[in-house]
Amino acid sequence: MADIACFVERYTINKAEELNALTNFKIAAMNMGHQFEYMFRSDIGRIPDFDALFIRSTTDPMNACYVASRMAELNGLRVIDDPDSIIICCDKINMYLRLMRAGLPIPETRFLGKREMDRKTVLNLFEDLGSPIVLKAPFSSFSTYVEKVDDIHAFYETARRYFRRTSEIVAQQFVPSNFDWRVTTLNGEVLFVCKYVMPAHSWKIQHRENGHVMWAKIEAMDLRNVDPKLVEIGLAAAKAVGDGLYGVDIKQVNGHYLVIEVNDNPNIDAGGEDAKNPEVYERIVRHLAGE
Ligand SMILES: Nc1ncnc2c1ncn2[C@@H]1O[C@H](COP(=O)(O)OP(=O)(O)O)[C@@H](O)[C@H]1O
Ligand SMILES: [Mg+2]
Repeated sequence: MADIACFVERYTINKAEELNALTNFKIAAMNMGHQFEYMFRSDIGRIPDFDALFIRSTTDPMNACYVASRMAELNGLRVIDDPDSIIICCDKINMYLRLMRAGLPIPETRFLGKREMDRKTVLNLFEDLGSPIVLKAPFSSFSTYVEKVDDIHAFYETARRYFRRTSEIVAQQFVPSNFDWRVTTLNGEVLFVCKYVMPAHSWKIQHRENGHVMWAKIEAMDLRNVDPKLVEIGLAAAKAVGDGLYGVDIKQVNGHYLVIEVNDNPNIDAGGEDAKNPEVYERIVRHLAGE
């Protein structure tokens, strides 16, 4: 029997589907004879009392959950997300460098330092990557710092805004699609595959308009109908980051796959991502319990 702590922060839980998933984890653990306790920021000092820590709050090296993750690792707990995965996935430059080194297919990608930005360099980027270019700040999540620019003025305007908070940004070839594949993996195995279908008129899975956020529609896939090549690329991309729990975003273009991102702390909504693989809760608990 294992004692599992599940780190949550109320303010990062927005939907009933997330709360229901947290309940599903607890039920799965109890059915398997394990203890599963929700833990808040003020309980961090109790981490050494547990066998495993499962973080289900927005991960960021600046957040309390990172401290929790480090503490868990130092105390020999099994931990998802482990501190290295948090560090890597919260920095798109680190993440893309790993994907490149592992030889994974990604859109044409360049990194641009603050001091390197001049007219000639930017025009060269448009020549290399075509137009529009997708600009990303390394720390972006939920599509917040990912924008399309289609001329040098827009490039400068957006890049300058990002450079206020970072010294290096990502410039990427635009790969149009109306959905992203999401391959979610744990310790080298696939848990589920789904499609995130963009909201109408949006090229990103989250669409913001007048303060209103629209989300992609989740279409869970039957794993038997998923192209093995897609799963293979998802697993290889995850492996380039670590051996934890990851959601890999992949675009499909003319039968080819391009990895867009490896996410730590991937979404698992009750009735959403779990729809075709309800055993996902049990599998994650089993891993945390060291079975
Ligand atoms: N090169 C690209 N071409 C087209 N769409 C992209 C590209 N890169 C990212 N996107 C889309 O933008 C959204 C956010 O991108 P992502 O890199 O995952 O940033 P974030 O971490 O902020 O979510 C995703 O829906 C993705 O499909
Ligand atoms: Mg993303």
